[in-house]
Amino acid sequence: MKKNKISKNWINKQRKDIYVRKSKIEGYKSRAVYKLKEIDEKFKIFKHVDSVIDLGAAPGSWSQFATTKIKSEKILSIDLIRFEKFKNCHQIIGDFTDESCKDEIKRYFGKKVDLIISDMAVNTIGNKNVDSIVTGELCLNAMDFAIGSLETKGIFVSKVFMGSSFNEIVALAKKSFKNVKVFKPLASRKNSKETFIICKFLR
Ligand SMILES: C[S@@+](CC[C@H](N)C(=O)[O-])C[C@H]1O[C@@H](n2cnc3c(N)ncnc32)[C@H](O)[C@@H]1O
Repeated sequence: MKKNKISKNWINKQRKDIYVRKSKIEGYKSRAVYKLKEIDEKFKIFKHVDSVIDLGAAPGSWSQFATTKIKSEKILSIDLIRFEKFKNCHQIIGDFTDESCKDEIKRYFGKKVDLIISDMAVNTIGNKNVDSIVTGELCLNAMDFAIGSLETKGIFVSKVFMGSSFNEIVALAKKSFKNVKVFKPLASRKNSKETFIICKFLR
């Protein structure tokens, strides 16, 4: 399909999408917030949480939601691209996979954290198989970081695509966390291979 035809289809889809309309009414930066809300309703991921790292945070709806759940200023949002700053959120603009970025995150908290959420993904307008592989690598990278940075009772939530690295991701998660669930929120588009992994309590 030609690129401008893809963009027209995307614009039409956005216009019809109830979650896009709802996010505009409720003042959220993107429809992605409803995926996190569903995850929180089902798995209570923000319960007893004081510190949060939001990986792949732009345009910012997950961080916005985190500010409604946590009153401390210990929310750190990381993305490659610039996005609006929210009250109580600290930002790092950079590549999370860079060691220097990870060091900066660790310095910011100076201790282990309660919750790490990752919606990191590459641009899915390209080759979907390649995108899914790269996004799987981002998830593995984030999980590895989470294992070293979470409190024992900490929680890691990440976007993951059904595809080549899915089984490897679930296997690593089960090896490292006591409680692992895979969940596709209603707000996640049906025709997308996207799903989410929710990992609780380090082994
Ligand atoms: C689906 S969007 C996130 C939407 C966000 N959760 C929200 O609620 O607004 C995925 C984001 O991951 C970011 N991303 C991809 N690779 C990254 C990396 N290596 N480091 C930091 N951010 C990355 C992209 O720039 C993009 O903004």
